[in-house]
Amino acid sequence: MLLAPAGLAMLAGLDGALLLLGVPAPIRLHRLADVHGQLMVLGVVGTLVALERAVAVRRRAAFLAPLLLAAGSVALLSAAPVAVGHALHLGGTVALVGTYVVVWRRQPAPAIAVQGAGAAAAVGSALLLLAGVPVAAVTPWFVAFLVLTVVGERLELMRVAAPPAAVRAGILVAGIALLLGAAVALLHPRAGGAVLGLALLALAVLLTRHDVARRTVRSTGLPRFMALAMLAGFGWLAVAGGVWLLGGAVTDGRAYDAVLHAVFLGFVMSMVMAHAPVILPAVLRRPLPYRPVMLAPLVLLHVSLGFRLVVGDGWGSVTAVRVGGVANVVAVLAFLAVAVWSVAVGAPARPTVAAVPTMSAVPVEPLVASAALR
Ligand code: HEM
Repeated sequence: MLLAPAGLAMLAGLDGALLLLGVPAPIRLHRLADVHGQLMVLGVVGTLVALERAVAVRRRAAFLAPLLLAAGSVALLSAAPVAVGHALHLGGTVALVGTYVVVWRRQPAPAIAVQGAGAAAAVGSALLLLAGVPVAAVTPWFVAFLVLTVVGERLELMRVAAPPAAVRAGILVAGIALLLGAAVALLHPRAGGAVLGLALLALAVLLTRHDVARRTVRSTGLPRFMALAMLAGFGWLAVAGGVWLLGGAVTDGRAYDAVLHAVFLGFVMSMVMAHAPVILPAVLRRPLPYRPVMLAPLVLLHVSLGFRLVVGDGWGSVTAVRVGGVANVVAVLAFLAVAVWSVAVGAPARPTVAAVPTMSAVPVEPLVASAALR
């Protein structure tokens, strides 16, 4: 049921994106542009993350986090003062930290600490917004939240590939640097940007070299789809790191658009697409079978993002930013439509996942198992 407000926040956030691009949008409400970033990060992805955790920990109290995050999004979309939405999002992020404390007690692993640190960054972002700090200055906290959440998940999966302890330590240090960078950027954007940039670059290199996606990309079906989405996402993380390192923690202009969407569309949205067929069935209580057609929105997302960032932000073409941005929206909507269709139609007559012989060599099952542990 909490997926409905997350879906509403997604549609409103996409409408806000069109308004920010300066192109025709179905609903021309100024407020949607103002709250686009917060809706997308805390309202859509934040609610999905919190919901997945709540289902996995199997405690009624854990549903408080997605409930408050979803309520915050509805408040942001209503005529209520924006402070109400900020306060509800703050409550939701604090509750999410509480959920990670429960998970940590059951499974005190570095991967959980990294994800908990991500949730702490979400609390920081919501606090800053409530205190009236402009959203542009809050964006490094948004980045820390979502990047640490995904990186923590990947770190958990790395147990399968058993990377050297130094690699895991490197990921932990880069994660701490990301949090530090977000704090420093508030006072000194150039120094903070350098720390943030180095942290993202380090994470991108470590993940690209050691994530299981490097092996699973050579398989077929869902594991290959997931690996492609993840490897492309790691590449975008490096792009964002480079922009922050060279330009500092920018708060407007072309570099601002580029760094934010390299992370949020190139890395985060790609990860959401990658994990949807594995994670969402537990939330939906219905299978979301992988279908090869899911590759189309994934490819469109990355190609259109490349066009937006290189031709648009890089060469300074407003038209290219608009064309690429609209294609980004189409890619996200197309993935949503394919996912809804896939759930409605159900599993194909011929199993595509369980019967693929190479599956024994790829760790989709550990992902599900680790989700169940949480
Ligand atoms: C789907 C296509 C999307 C498009 C076309 C889009 C477009 C935009 C535009 C044009 C801006 C203003 C940039 C600037 O001021 O230079 C913006 C800001 C932002 N976007 Fe997106 N966006 C999209 C998706 C996302 C997603 C998925 C997220 C997060 C998960 C996100 C998070 C943000 C944030 C945090 C800001 C900063 C908000 C602000 O400065 O008020 N966007 N977006």
